[in-house]
Amino acid sequence: MKIIKVENYETLSKKAAEIIAAQVAEKPASILGLATGSTPVGAYQELIRMYKRGEVDFAGVTAFNLDEYHPVKKSGDQSYDYFMKEKFFNHVNVAKTFIPNGEAADHAAECENYEKLVYESGGIDLQLLGIGNNGHIGFNEPADHFPAATHYVALDESTIKANARFFENESDVPKNAITMGIRTIFKAKKIMLLASGAGKAECIKEMVGGKITPKNPSSILQLHPDVTIIVDKDAGRLL
Ligand code: GLP
Repeated sequence: MKIIKVENYETLSKKAAEIIAAQVAEKPASILGLATGSTPVGAYQELIRMYKRGEVDFAGVTAFNLDEYHPVKKSGDQSYDYFMKEKFFNHVNVAKTFIPNGEAADHAAECENYEKLVYESGGIDLQLLGIGNNGHIGFNEPADHFPAATHYVALDESTIKANARFFENESDVPKNAITMGIRTIFKAKKIMLLASGAGKAECIKEMVGGKITPKNPSSILQLHPDVTIIVDKDAGRLL
């Protein structure tokens, strides 16, 4: 694991955007794996600025998002579909975008279909990740095994609580989601995980140096051959 410690969230966002832009410059037809959550928002903003200045061109890029709530209305402002359009896709020229369908009537079929789409794309070149306070990546929650493929998941009580800040009431947070699995994520040639703020310090320490266990899904990243972690001073304070 390569760890890059930076001063603050702004520098973290700039660094992450530079790495994504460099990937796209090197391979204009890159397949990018993208993430939601508040952490990558600054990187998306920076990429939008770079795009507007003509410093990056996403015309050949295909993007696959990690996860989506289920059930959720795509057009509703709490779906990850809406989030990605608002925060990134509506402002740049990414050629093709994929997000698991939170409206799918048959969630098992949607998981299978999404997994297939990722594989048929030829595989993700650079996967962006955030991390949940409980160590989840995407929506791979602490469990007794590492789920391999894209799957339907019951969200952890702690995730529902943490994500309630985006909803009017905690009871409005969907109880389930569709997420890429660990193997889906591991097929990515490169992974870049971002973490900011003191609240992430403990899970970052466990991810980097703790026991590899499905109880802390992010710990499996210790086994991937090309992982870059960018942390600000607060999130990296226990490293
Ligand atoms: C959600 C997403 C994750 C994300 C996590 C952390 O649960 N499914 O992909 O990493 O939130 O969010 P934040 O960046 O807001 O701390």
